[in-house]
Amino acid sequence: MSSAISIPGSSARVVAASASPTTTTIHDRMLFRKESTSFAIRQPKVLHPVENEDLKLLILENISQEAVKAFRSQGFHVDHSTKAMSEDELVQKIGQYHAIGIRSKTKITERVLKAASKLLVIGCFCIGTNQVDLDNAAKAGIPVFNSPFSNSRSVAELVMSEIVALSRQYFERAFEMRNGIWNKQSKGCWEVRGKTLGIVGYGHIGSQLSVLAEAFGMRVLFYDVVNIMPLGSARQVDTLATLLSESDFVTLHVPELPETTNMISTEELAQMKKGAYLINNARGKVVDIPALIDALKSGHLAGAALDVYPSEPGSNGSPFDDQLNPWSSALRSIPNVILTPHIGGSTEEAQRMIGEEVSSALIRYLNNGSTVGAVNFPEVDLRAITLEEPNHIRVCYVHKNIPGVLRQVNEVLSPYNVEKQYSDSKGEIAYLMADIADVSPRDVNSLREQLNITSANILTRMLA
Ligand SMILES: NC(=O)c1ccc[n+]([C@@H]2O[C@H](COP(=O)([O-])OP(=O)(O)OC[C@H]3O[C@@H](n4cnc5c(N)ncnc54)[C@H](O)[C@@H]3O)[C@@H](O)[C@H]2O)c1
Repeated sequence: MSSAISIPGSSARVVAASASPTTTTIHDRMLFRKESTSFAIRQPKVLHPVENEDLKLLILENISQEAVKAFRSQGFHVDHSTKAMSEDELVQKIGQYHAIGIRSKTKITERVLKAASKLLVIGCFCIGTNQVDLDNAAKAGIPVFNSPFSNSRSVAELVMSEIVALSRQYFERAFEMRNGIWNKQSKGCWEVRGKTLGIVGYGHIGSQLSVLAEAFGMRVLFYDVVNIMPLGSARQVDTLATLLSESDFVTLHVPELPETTNMISTEELAQMKKGAYLINNARGKVVDIPALIDALKSGHLAGAALDVYPSEPGSNGSPFDDQLNPWSSALRSIPNVILTPHIGGSTEEAQRMIGEEVSSALIRYLNNGSTVGAVNFPEVDLRAITLEEPNHIRVCYVHKNIPGVLRQVNEVLSPYNVEKQYSDSKGEIAYLMADIADVSPRDVNSLREQLNITSANILTRMLA
């Protein structure tokens, strides 16, 4: 049971929970926590650009409907298409839009950016951002957001399934059954319980996997270039060689870097236990595949699962053959090798999370100026202006990173009380956010004009 009491001087309601834990639900307890603290929290004010023009968004490549709904709920006008756009189409249309959401097929080139006279922000609803000319976007004052880690769980789950599939050889058995062959056997098939999993790269994916593997009763070792607090009973080892020599399964979760190219080659494969398995869901160039083929053919390794390759086909239905990668047919002919077409992060859940993460980043930037998470921009944010501060305005000033800019800006702002201010730079671009108290609507325009004519100005926005 619960009853409501009012707090003097506050419109907040506090729900007093009954003493009996059996009669309160989790929902009641959450409500109690939320409502009992609400009188102490200063409500953030929803900011909007001072310019009268409504914000128009172009959303391409069938980005999730939840993202489209989130934009519309902010009052933005959204044009939504399931298809990508060519450079020519974009050059024609982009001029009317303030934001664009794309996946990997639409290319935002220098030519597109030149035509994007109103563009404020780009959202890549995917992991990578190499479809966007990031440097020229930054120079035009346009931050680019993506969602690099939304699919970590999906990859970790795929790896768990591969560990079991390799250990039980069930890909081979299922393949035989599809060809009408019954071939029940237990030789060379193992439980994963009690076996050692070696994780190379203990970041977003590696650490998720560590938790899942322990739940399967596996012992977990990891190797990383930085010291990381292990989760559960996992243990960090000092060298890659130690990890390779102690693990029954080795799984790779490192980025593609010059240091990780061919990180697993003949020498490293020889350091692995006889009968061990190798799994690569990271990037194709991390494994020297001809060396892996040798290790599998010699029987030193008992199997491998690969989701990523040095060269990958550009579209579904394309061949995965020796023209693309010269060793393709040799690899495909080896038993207990699982080959998947870069599906590690491809789940509906990951797509939904990408939609949520990138749409909120775009909304935060358009409404509040925050660039936290931008890939090509200094990351700047300020705590919210509250409802108790009705005449405060937020200045968002993107400028060239050259000496003397802050002096000019401070001269413009000096007649006012600057409540908070933060600036940072990345390469040639710098970004300053400042909240200013008691600014009349007439002063807002004058302030903007004065900032617009500063020599370093790239883009000035006022939010109120
Ligand atoms: N197969 C897929 O569909 C798929 C999906 C998502 C991510 N990925 C790939 O998975 C990999 C890992 O992703 P993440 O999100 O966990 O990245 P992350 O940045 O969170 O973690 C990477 C970890 O690797 C470590 N590392 C870097 N260089 C290293 C080295 N030389 N030796 C050992 N450790 C090193 C880093 O310190 C970090 O802890 C990336 O290559 C990513 O591109 C693949």
